Amino acid sequence: MRRRLGRECLYVPSCRLGLYVALRHWCPPGGRVLMSPVNDDVIFFVLLAAGLRPVQAPLRAEDGTLDMAAVPESLWRGLSAVLTTNLYGTPDPAPELRARCDGLGIPLIEDAAHAIGSQVAGRPVGSFGDASVFSLSKHTGAKTGGFLSVADPGLRAGLERARDELLWPARLSAELAYALRPYAEAGVRGLRLIGAARAALRLLGLEEREDIRMELRPGELKQAMSAAPALADFHSWIRVDMHDYRLRPGGLRLRRTERLLTRLDHRLAGHLEGVRRLSATRWALPRPGPAQPLFRVPLLVEDRDAAIAALARRRIGVGYLYDPPLDVYAGDVFTDPSPAPEPAAWFARHALPVDPFKAETAISVLTELGARPARPPSAAWDAVPPAWGEHGV
Ligand SMILES: Cc1ncc(COP(=O)(O)O)c(C=O)c1O
Repeated sequence: MRRRLGRECLYVPSCRLGLYVALRHWCPPGGRVLMSPVNDDVIFFVLLAAGLRPVQAPLRAEDGTLDMAAVPESLWRGLSAVLTTNLYGTPDPAPELRARCDGLGIPLIEDAAHAIGSQVAGRPVGSFGDASVFSLSKHTGAKTGGFLSVADPGLRAGLERARDELLWPARLSAELAYALRPYAEAGVRGLRLIGAARAALRLLGLEEREDIRMELRPGELKQAMSAAPALADFHSWIRVDMHDYRLRPGGLRLRRTERLLTRLDHRLAGHLEGVRRLSATRWALPRPGPAQPLFRVPLLVEDRDAAIAALARRRIGVGYLYDPPLDVYAGDVFTDPSPAPEPAAWFARHALPVDPFKAETAISVLTELGARPARPPSAAWDAVPPAWGEHGV
């Protein structure tokens, strides 16, 4: 990762813990942090745990990236930091955000969980922020681990100490569960016991959401906030989908992660191939610049529930949905709402994040279904090429 990014990197057991370490280092408690409302709710709780006030950013309806032009001047001036999301791997405008943050004298922190292979202005996502954090659960498929990277190498030792203070000791039972999980999942999948697999994952605490968003539990959350900054009080929210997020890794976990990381370029090439296929369909919007090895391709469809159901019938699960946006989900007790929420809400409702490795099947399912492409209300449709007509795939 140091070679890829050209900056110092520190291993962390999860991206969420890396973000917590970074936010604690760069943002004094009580500060206001601009973030994307179309984001994993876990990240919202990480901000609250760090004692920060989330401020929801306006997004572009086309791709869910941060819309800087729609951020009012007064809002910029009240911020203590900006946190990017790079949703599904689409880069936020990092060079412009870097310049803006420099002008304001505030840190830029990049959440590069979805964007390990993405570039912007010829540089990797994650090489612009004072800090950037990666997840190895996504492209590498390690289901554990991540990296916190820093612009100033002199900060590494201090951040390493901060990380170590937060780590829980390695547990043999957790290591064994981690080692056996892929075999258990493959076995259950092989038997086509999807219902049983989900029940098993729930039992293991790896799938805790009945819905897209986890339950907010506002009363308990307010109580936890009175103790912030503190990670422990927010454990029940932050651990969702990954109970080992602050566990010191054992040898087995590290060896598997290392092996998967050596295959990253191969995986990224696979992502790129799927992205090219999906991007040529009528459910994708034309994107400027070279194709990126996105983590998921956000196709835009009118009836997303029907598309999800049709994909499920072909045993393609759709995850990483972030609907409704965080300001609607949490309300203004817990966050400042976006000054221009409609485009984010539109994107959150219509984006169908497709795994590039499932491109062929997904395209045939959507074609058979006759899924209608969705078009952002404000988009310049004149720019849409003819291949996008009703008959083009
Ligand atoms: C945008 C985003 N950031 C951060 C994370 C957290 O990553 P990890 O599971 O490695 O903590 C996720 C998890 O899905 C995510 O979607």
